[in-house]
Amino acid sequence: MSVYILGIESSCDDTSAAVIRDDVILSNVIAGQDVHRNFGGVVPELASRAHQQNIIPVIDNAIRKAKISKNQLSAVAFTQGPGLLGSLLVGISFAKSFSMGLGIPVIEVDHLQAHILAHFIRGAALHGEPSGDKVPSFPFLCLTVSGGHTQIVLVKDYFDMQIIGQTIDDAAGETFDKAAKIMGLPYPGGPVIDKLAAAGDPSRFTFSRPVTSGLDFSFSGLKTSILYFLRDELKKDPDFIEKNKNDLCASIRLTIVDILMNRLQQAAAATGIKEIAIAGGVSANSLLREKLETTGRELSWNTFIPKFEYTTDNAAMIAVTGYFKYLGHEFASFRSKPYARSKW
Ligand code: KG4
Ligand code: ZN
Repeated sequence: MSVYILGIESSCDDTSAAVIRDDVILSNVIAGQDVHRNFGGVVPELASRAHQQNIIPVIDNAIRKAKISKNQLSAVAFTQGPGLLGSLLVGISFAKSFSMGLGIPVIEVDHLQAHILAHFIRGAALHGEPSGDKVPSFPFLCLTVSGGHTQIVLVKDYFDMQIIGQTIDDAAGETFDKAAKIMGLPYPGGPVIDKLAAAGDPSRFTFSRPVTSGLDFSFSGLKTSILYFLRDELKKDPDFIEKNKNDLCASIRLTIVDILMNRLQQAAAATGIKEIAIAGGVSANSLLREKLETTGRELSWNTFIPKFEYTTDNAAMIAVTGYFKYLGHEFASFRSKPYARSKW
């Protein structure tokens, strides 16, 4: 008999709900939050309020799009953390009361594990049966790059994951966002820089590259070097950013992607693993996607690039993680609490 899971994601600034039948996605509804646009980052209190407004229509929409009745649901999976506590609480409270009303279990999902397990979502359910999409085999390496995290994870099994490298300061997504803010571009900066970079010359400007040990990352030096460089240039020409926007974006994007790819190559060489995936919001970056493919071809890697809709925050990844936990009967108690910081 099929398992139907409702996934709920509310860790940051996207309210999302998805329904999955086993590992086949039936719906994935995401409501973004425009309220943060003018603040250069997410304002936690505004995020919680927007989640409260969005959560019922988003869930209702996800169940309707999946063309199932809520009574067919086997369990409700929710993001427990890491994330903004006030935002997480909205999703958790809804998940608990909804499942209590339906008499079905709740399942806790770690947001970072979910970004990785998004690679196991089978698609195309709305247009017929799944196409047998290619999924990674264990063990594989995953470069998880989001707004809050930058990690290289050794994935031994669905829930047996080990971080073998991570940032010692800023995350890659955060660096894109901060660079955009310095240049007066809107939040989130990653997609904006990616788009402007397409028409720019990446070799025009060079920025400092970090010196970190092992497989760790550091991005705060890069952020500072962008800040100081622009401050000096703006003194000479107040229109410097406007005149060089595309080249600046292309140079910044190349620097960040090179830092990520260098470490990933090192990790692959150190572990001997050739199954290589990327995940998280920054995995939407067109240059990172392109470089993973070309490097993968050169080094005979088997590469896994998520579909765009599963890169930035979404509930489909929460639902598929919930499905694997359901199979292992890993249910939560109604006392479940959110956590702000990563548990591993
Ligand atoms: O995974 P995600 O949606 O949320 C977190 O869990 O943090 O990642 C959001 C991050 C933001 O920093 C955003 O600027 C970045 O992903 N991002 C991108 C792109 N699309 C989103 N960064 C670079 N290029 C993109 N195309
Ligand atoms: Zn995320």
